[in-house]
Amino acid sequence: MKKILLSLGVAWSLSTSLVAQQVIPFPTKILSQEKKIDLSKIKSIYIDDKRLLRDAEIFNEYLMRIDGKQALPIDKTKQNALILTYDSKATEETYRIESLYDNSVKISGKVSGVFYGLMTVFQALNSVESSLPKLEDQPAFKWRGMHLDVCRHFFDVSFVKRYIDFLAMHKLNTFHWHLTDDQGWRIEIKQFPLLTSIGSKRKETMVEKNFNPYKGDGIPVQGFYTQEEIKDVVAYAAERNVTVVPEIEMPGHALAALAAYPEYSCNKTPVSVMTTWGVSDDVFCPNDETVAFLKKILDEVLLLFPSKYIHIGGDEVPKTRWKTCAVCQEAIRKNNLKDEHELQSFFIKKIDAYLASKGRNSIGWDEILEGGLAPNAAIMSWRGEEGGIAASKQKHYVVMSPGSHCYFDHYQGNRQTEPLAIGGFTPVQKVYAYSPIPEGLSEAQQKYILGAQANLWTEYIPTTKHAEYMAMPRMCALAEVLWSGKNRPGYEHFVPRLENHFLLLEKLHINYSKAIYDVAISHQATGGYVFATLQTPFKEGTMYYTTDGKDPSVNATPYTKRIFITKSGKLKAQYFDHGEPKGNIVSRVFELHKAVSLPIISTITPTRGTLNLITDGQVSQLPKVIDEYTCWKDQFPTLTVDLHRPTAVTSLKICALKELENNNYLPTAITLEVSSDGKNFSILKNFTEKEINDSYKQHQAIQFAIDTKSRYFRCTFENQNKLLNPEEKAWLLLSELILQ
Ligand code: ACM
Ligand code: ZN
Repeated sequence: MKKILLSLGVAWSLSTSLVAQQVIPFPTKILSQEKKIDLSKIKSIYIDDKRLLRDAEIFNEYLMRIDGKQALPIDKTKQNALILTYDSKATEETYRIESLYDNSVKISGKVSGVFYGLMTVFQALNSVESSLPKLEDQPAFKWRGMHLDVCRHFFDVSFVKRYIDFLAMHKLNTFHWHLTDDQGWRIEIKQFPLLTSIGSKRKETMVEKNFNPYKGDGIPVQGFYTQEEIKDVVAYAAERNVTVVPEIEMPGHALAALAAYPEYSCNKTPVSVMTTWGVSDDVFCPNDETVAFLKKILDEVLLLFPSKYIHIGGDEVPKTRWKTCAVCQEAIRKNNLKDEHELQSFFIKKIDAYLASKGRNSIGWDEILEGGLAPNAAIMSWRGEEGGIAASKQKHYVVMSPGSHCYFDHYQGNRQTEPLAIGGFTPVQKVYAYSPIPEGLSEAQQKYILGAQANLWTEYIPTTKHAEYMAMPRMCALAEVLWSGKNRPGYEHFVPRLENHFLLLEKLHINYSKAIYDVAISHQATGGYVFATLQTPFKEGTMYYTTDGKDPSVNATPYTKRIFITKSGKLKAQYFDHGEPKGNIVSRVFELHKAVSLPIISTITPTRGTLNLITDGQVSQLPKVIDEYTCWKDQFPTLTVDLHRPTAVTSLKICALKELENNNYLPTAITLEVSSDGKNFSILKNFTEKEINDSYKQHQAIQFAIDTKSRYFRCTFENQNKLLNPEEKAWLLLSELILQ
């Protein structure tokens, strides 16, 4: 803790105790640590400028959402009052809080700053201490965003407003509203009514991940926002200092639009709104008629959204149709374009110029860099940081949103206990550790990084409760990254504040994830043994664990030092505070065997993962965590393990994963050879495809009895798999190779 405090600099060094319990994002400048500003004596609000009236009213709306709290009267009393002062010299979004005589508290700033001051007071009022230090606060980044995909699943206006409330409460200022996609068109466009009468409806939705064979739920989905509703949302957001940036996807992710108006596709044949996830090959044909159509749509969009930036998508555009479309090929030839990427760029530039002619800027996903960036376009970097780096070097503005840290549709906790998600692993700690400024940019280039945002794609998020769960509390961590910036006080300081903040989230009936309480288990295999380490960011409670299969309780073993795994079985762990379990039970399966911690040699370097995972003693459980597997694509390897001395072995178990929908296949044959010198091998057994599959059916692993005493064991895996989709390649995923 001391180290953390030292790194904060003087302004914060003594402030920890005073404000540790409250306020996310953490204020950037504590002006006085000695004197607490007591908020409990506040009885009313006084405003010195009527521009601040809505701030005060909205503050009251937040208060009234909490059971037992009442709005504060807005009147002329200056004693025991929150005094809101308009400071015309203040920078936008900054504010200052200080105590005044007569038990009053002054918040000064412009409208946006006073709003944020009130959000700080709101959080502090609902915390354990109900007090604040004197402070001055301002954001590190201009673009502090959250995105919401309303196409894969539709969320009504009341939820959209609630989501905006979450943003505002955490001083996030940009709401990226993803309004159109392959699976639904959600914005009323008066000139093209079929966009909503056809494009906002789909027949049904794929059940979980049943791509192949496809399984639908049979439940029709529909929903869109009328223009009146959109105006209402935009105004609602504006009063909370949130800018709404609409996204109208083009030229890809357009199937819902093409279901309504197939004449703007290359084939011009009827299509239906997509019921599976993924990307449609049918995209807009980027011809003059399509551009005219999209301009008319944008005309209506611009009337609804005053934002400087208009998001035009641009991601994941298959070029399949363009390659065989006479019109597209003629456009490439006539305009001296190199290929379909340049055709996309040619198209985006027209849209970019149109928006520029209306005084707006386009922003698009990082694919719009390909084939050349449009003059006014900003980039949203999602496929890592590279797009953002490239764009800032070209002097284009950038919003960072890399999948690694900013995709809140990823898992945030243990897959065994979390609801089904698209994949990935982005826990709160990882979000908190994010730095929107990529390494290696010059100071001038850094200026082009406007900020960052997190994206909530909703393929696997069907309900509002679930959306809240995925957003919270990761949104809190993101808010601190973006507001408090690089001098934020650190994860150890954040965690206790977050725990206090959970009480406020509960008062607001927000469905947040408690995955942060889940114990993190890591392990090391060394010298033939396995050791497991348990970690939690929480200091107060205790982690308990079992190795006998029973669920942990306060009667189980408390964790004090790393655990020596002495027998095969399941390690289960859980965090308890005041005798109460807090997170979920987390488990790992370990199998001790004769190859544990011994190196493996492979003829082919794994495509993903490392070879030591195959003898680390851990057997992966389902649902799969890809990082626990060693993976080969297409070319399956020969693996050799050296047991160092002739060793009696009676069984071979290969923990592989068969998951055809993800192209993960078993080997079609295995040859097992043994050797005493590592040079001359003799075949011990050949296993056929049928034997492999029968064993897998029975054991969920490839398991055979053998009988040998040898030093070297060599397995050769064949891949003659015929894939469901012949354009894909088969993967081999191994979690452990067990010799007993
Ligand atoms: C994206 O996630 N396709 C931008
Ligand atoms: Zn075409």
